[in-house]
Amino acid sequence: MPHRPNFYSCRDPYYKDFTPRPSPTILRAMAILKIARMGHPVLRQVAEPVQDPTAAQVHGLIRNMIDTMRDADGAGLAAPQVHVPLRLVIFHVPAERAGESEESAPTPLTVLINPEIEPLTEEKKLGWEGCLSVPGLMGAVPRFTKIRYSGFAPDGSRIERVAEDFHARVVQHECDHLDGILYPQRMTDLSLLIFQEEMRHGTPDAMREPTEDESEPV
Ligand code: NI
Repeated sequence: MPHRPNFYSCRDPYYKDFTPRPSPTILRAMAILKIARMGHPVLRQVAEPVQDPTAAQVHGLIRNMIDTMRDADGAGLAAPQVHVPLRLVIFHVPAERAGESEESAPTPLTVLINPEIEPLTEEKKLGWEGCLSVPGLMGAVPRFTKIRYSGFAPDGSRIERVAEDFHARVVQHECDHLDGILYPQRMTDLSLLIFQEEMRHGTPDAMREPTEDESEPV
């Protein structure tokens, strides 16, 4: 890897020096990391692959990311969002966002390292997304409705899954973070970028589900 002074990975001495080596007691304590917000350069860069998914430093990062995501009540988090430009994401599919099919079923917390995504359809659907790095806002984002994703688990084993609907959406959103892309950059209609609090006035017309009458061909 070429020397890049502004880049740190868990294999760099800089990162090692500044990562506390916790005692077993501290290891179990919660660590909530600061989340980078839109505009921070770490969110614009292409993250580096994780060299060893089983490394202790990587597992420490994962634990802290899980604490941070739970504290922020998020469905997913990518390492660059906590200022670590490595290709690692965590996510889950809560029951309330799950669909009927096996591919969109509730999914427990998943750690996905060096992920790759392959769309299995050309169909994209609009759906509301928020992002811990874009606090207060939500936007309607077109995403592939069905994908295959693969990568590595923290024990080094291979993960390969087919995902639909919200499951496919959250994986696409999180993996975009690894390429320096935030969801507003995927939007095709910026009139659908709104403050979450303004949703109390109702869903914008462009996102309203058609009523039965309107869905009939005319
Ligand atoms: Ni995000």
